[in-house]
Amino acid sequence: MYGNFEEIRRNFIWFESTGSTNNDIKKIIRNSSAPVFDVICAGYQTEGRGRLGRNFFSPDGGLYFSVAVPLSGKEKNIPFMTLLAGLCVSEAINELCGVKTMIKWPNDIYLDGKKLGGILCELVSGNIITAVAGVGINLSIKQEDIPRDLRDIMTSLAVGNIIPPQKDALVEKIVGKLDAYIYEHKELFSVREETLKAIKERSFSIGKNVKYILGNEVIEGVVTDIKVSGAAEILLPDSTKKEIFCGEITQ
Ligand code: BTN
Repeated sequence: MYGNFEEIRRNFIWFESTGSTNNDIKKIIRNSSAPVFDVICAGYQTEGRGRLGRNFFSPDGGLYFSVAVPLSGKEKNIPFMTLLAGLCVSEAINELCGVKTMIKWPNDIYLDGKKLGGILCELVSGNIITAVAGVGINLSIKQEDIPRDLRDIMTSLAVGNIIPPQKDALVEKIVGKLDAYIYEHKELFSVREETLKAIKERSFSIGKNVKYILGNEVIEGVVTDIKVSGAAEILLPDSTKKEIFCGEITQ
C-alpha cells in the first residue's frame, strides 16, 4: 500500500517531440477518473515552459519529462515537492555520472555555476488531486548549440565534459526516487531530517548574497537556511530574518 494507492505502476511514454510534456500530462490527468501514473518523456519540446511564465529552451540533446504524482489530498507540504524533485535529479545524476550537481533555490539544477536543468511543479485538481513534476536536463547539448545570450548562464553535461547517461535509465532513476520519497517515506506529510539535510548539503543558495523581488521592493541579504516548509531563509542587513516561499532569487 502506497499512501492511498495499492500499487504504483509507472507507464513511461516516449515522444520524439511535443509542445510541452507538462501540458500533455495535465490533459491526460484531466481526462481520467482513475489515478494517473504516466511519465511523459520527449526528445525535444517546441513550447517548453519554465517557472514564472517563462519559456524553457528545450532542444534535441536534453531530457524533458513530466511525471504524474496522484496525491491523497491530505498532504501538508505540497510546495516541498519542487525541492524533493531537485534532490532526486541531483542524486540520480550523481549515481549515474559520478558528478555532484547543486540545487539553486527553489527549482534549478546547477553544474559548475551554471544552470543544467530546471523543475516546474504544478497541481491538477479534480477527482484525484495530482501533482505534476516537469523536469528538463541538458545532456548532450553542445556549447555552440546554446544561444549566445544563454551561454554564460546555461550548461549541459557534455559542456561539463561528462558523458551523459542513457535517457531511459536517468528518467527511471529520478522517478523511482521521487516515488520512494513521496509514497514510501511520505515526505509531503512530514519531511525527514535526513532528506532536508541532503537538500541543504546540495544547496547552491545557502551562504550566497541574493536579491529577491517582493512586490515593488527588492530585498537583499544572505541565504542562511532552507526550511522544512520549502522556504528559503534570508538574513537581512538589519540582522532580521525573512522566509521566502515563492518567486526567484538572483545570486
Ligand atoms: C524552469 O527552469 O523554470 C523550469 C523548467 C522546467 C522544464 C520542464 S521540461 C519538461 C516539462 N515540460 C515543460 O514544459 N516544462 C517542464
